[in-house]
Amino acid sequence: MNSMAPTQDLLADWQPRHAQLFGQHAIKLQHRLAETGLFTREALGRLIERCPPDHYGILSMGLDKTKSEKIHGEFGGCSGIEVIEAIERGRMWLNMRRIMDFDPTYRALLDRVFTEFEARVPGLKTSKRNIGVLVSSPNAQVYYHADIQGQSLWQISGSKRVYLYPTSEVFLPSTSIEKILLRETDEDVLYKPWFDEFATVHDLSPGEMLTWPLYAPHRVENHDCLNISVTMEHWTKEIWNAYAVHYGNGVMRRTLKLGNPSTRTSGLSVYPKAASAFAWKKLGRETKGDVVKTKGFRVDANSPNGVEFYR
Ligand SMILES: [Fe+2]
Repeated sequence: MNSMAPTQDLLADWQPRHAQLFGQHAIKLQHRLAETGLFTREALGRLIERCPPDHYGILSMGLDKTKSEKIHGEFGGCSGIEVIEAIERGRMWLNMRRIMDFDPTYRALLDRVFTEFEARVPGLKTSKRNIGVLVSSPNAQVYYHADIQGQSLWQISGSKRVYLYPTSEVFLPSTSIEKILLRETDEDVLYKPWFDEFATVHDLSPGEMLTWPLYAPHRVENHDCLNISVTMEHWTKEIWNAYAVHYGNGVMRRTLKLGNPSTRTSGLSVYPKAASAFAWKKLGRETKGDVVKTKGFRVDANSPNGVEFYR
């Protein structure tokens, strides 16, 4: 399956300056994921067929392009290749999450990628790594949001435009970060079209990857072609500290009615906040993250739009 020589780096054009930039600024790099053979249509078709139901989400954006309706669906007995072909014809977004949980080949790849990063960035130590695959229709979009852990996006096939916004109170207030961390919102945050004037825009083509600073808001627009992308996520001590601080602040803001708690992510104040984060979780006050959503359609290999909506 893996025809690539093990000595060939997956990070193809790393420069010494990237060690300083990693995690702090957006960096775009060349990669060799396609050469592993793990992301061809055939390989992904097989992966779709093995994907447990709780490891994927498939959304239909609806056929009315003026509305941003999102309907959750299921594969509905299609072969993996048929699912990909239906997505190519329709307006859908498939997210296979944590694929390393059900296929050890992808776990080995994930470990290999982060071994390369850690060898290149002094002091970098990553944990809770995960890898997912996104297969999305021509012109599909991911709306403005931010993620809670370190992120990278690896383009395999097709092309897309990523808008990255500054990490400031203007573009993502602390209160929104807290809401995301406390899972009170589905990572959707307030977006205004003028934000785009402040965005850094990256077009991603096959063989390119992009990583960006923690909590940097972003949105994605596919170009007019099927898109196959890989996402990887990771945690570091610094990311965990930021999580603990924002989470703790969110809890304090809700329980003690604090106005503006500090968001310093180092020093003594971090650990009491981390403790209060745990306490909050233990109290079971957290809104459930992955709510089981009613399925509104199945993928249909024979329909022109690739979907059959349930009534
Ligand atoms: Fe994201």
